[in-house]
Amino acid sequence: MKKISFKSLILSLLYFLILVFSVNITYADTNDSRNSMLFGDVDGNGILTATDSAFILAKVINNTVMPIENITNDYMRYADVDNDQKLTTNDAVIVLKKVLDKSYTMPCENPPLILDKKDKTLIAYFSWSGNSEKMASYIAEQTNGDLYKIEPKTPYPEIYEECGAVARVERDENLRPEIANLPDSIDEYNSIFVCYPIWWHTAPMIIGTFLESYDLSDINIYPVTQSASMDRTQFENSMEFIKENAKNANVHEALFTRYSNINAILEYLQENGFTE
Ligand SMILES: Cc1cc2nc3c(=O)[nH]c(=O)nc-3n(C[C@H](O)[C@H](O)[C@H](O)COP(=O)(O)O)c2cc1C
Repeated sequence: MKKISFKSLILSLLYFLILVFSVNITYADTNDSRNSMLFGDVDGNGILTATDSAFILAKVINNTVMPIENITNDYMRYADVDNDQKLTTNDAVIVLKKVLDKSYTMPCENPPLILDKKDKTLIAYFSWSGNSEKMASYIAEQTNGDLYKIEPKTPYPEIYEECGAVARVERDENLRPEIANLPDSIDEYNSIFVCYPIWWHTAPMIIGTFLESYDLSDINIYPVTQSASMDRTQFENSMEFIKENAKNANVHEALFTRYSNINAILEYLQENGFTE
């Protein structure tokens, strides 16, 4: 009998793998009664392939977005293929199964989850010396939200006492300092973290400028703040300020903790359903 060489064995194996992983399923092939035109096709190229599964898996593992240029659809809308409102490895497994086994059908009792456009999280922050910025960046990383730095049109002085003097006048006169980089719209977000330091026993007035610039009806606001003294009365003043300025918003209980308290931040995100 002819002996099979090691090389031809490896080549056969490779050939087999290429065959398996090049199987694509066009939508017409799926006998899934859900909206299989869309489901799992996270790169929006019209066919289900192992790449779609890889995209979902990478998202779950790294909590990061895959190469954006490959994703033509708003892929979060199509990635929750088991419709349990969460992105888990199971979603990736279902897609891969569909690709590898055309006879596989998904449960079809539940209608597909098509989230409306307001499904994103914004992390807006103002920070003079970097502490709120650290918190905001960490929250953005953990929630995969969009980070937005509120920049004053007239920068605050770099010297502490001078900055303090300007901020004090702003607070005493209830001013609304202009923002240099105010987004035209924040319509796509339904959750907004607002991170800020305590300034003169309340929130910096520029936070009021930001909040007053939009119709925040029914938007979820999550205030996140810290200060040198960590004085609770000052924090509560700042919450009053946030509520007054975020009209009709759903202002959630805030996080008031030292910026370096990673555990408290993680706990807060978990309690509010941003992480598992
Ligand atoms: C203008 C100004 C006013 C401040 N007012 C207070 C205050 O009333 N109470 C307090 O505990 N800390 C106050 N601080 C200290 C800041 O809250 C603290 O340094 C905070 O960590 C700074 O955050 P940031 O790095 O994000 O700017 C003030 C700081 C500045 C610059």
